[in-house]
Amino acid sequence: AEPPLHLQVNGRACSIEGVPRAATLLHLLRNDLGLNGPKYGCGLGQCGACTVHVDGVAARACVIPARGVAGRAITTLEGLGTRGRWHPVQAAFEDAQAAQCGYCLNGMVMQAAALLARDPQASEARIRSELSGNLCRCGTHIEILDAVQRAAL
Ligand code: FES
Repeated sequence: AEPPLHLQVNGRACSIEGVPRAATLLHLLRNDLGLNGPKYGCGLGQCGACTVHVDGVAARACVIPARGVAGRAITTLEGLGTRGRWHPVQAAFEDAQAAQCGYCLNGMVMQAAALLARDPQASEARIRSELSGNLCRCGTHIEILDAVQRAAL
C-alpha cells in the first residue's frame, strides 16, 4: 500500500491515506477534502479553472499528481478569503460584478492573487498577460480585467 500523503492545505496539516498514484491534486482537493473552489474544466491544464497556489505560485491542479505535492503548502480559493473577510482580489471581483456563470472565477481570482502577491502594482499589460491562459467562455474578460486592476494598488 502507498504511504499516507502529507501536505498542508489552507494552513492545516493534512495526512491522507490511500491516495492512488494516478490521482491528481484537483481530485484530492475536491473529492477527498471537499474543497470545491477549484473547478474541473478541461482536465488538460489548458483552461485554468482548477488553479490553486502551490507554495504561493499559481498552478493547475488538474495536471499535478497529488503525490507530487507531498510536503508542499496548497492554498485553494477557500483559503484565500471567506465571506466577510474577502481577499482584496475577491472583494474587487464583487465590486466590479465580474461574473457571469462564474465557472472560471476560481482560476481568475487565484491567478490574479498570485500575480498581485509578486507584483502588487501590476500594470494592465502584465495583468492581461498573466490571465491570458485563463479562459472565460461567457466573454467577461473586460469586467475581470477591471476587477484585477481595482485590486492592484
Ligand atoms: Fe485544469 Fe482546465 S481544469 S486547466
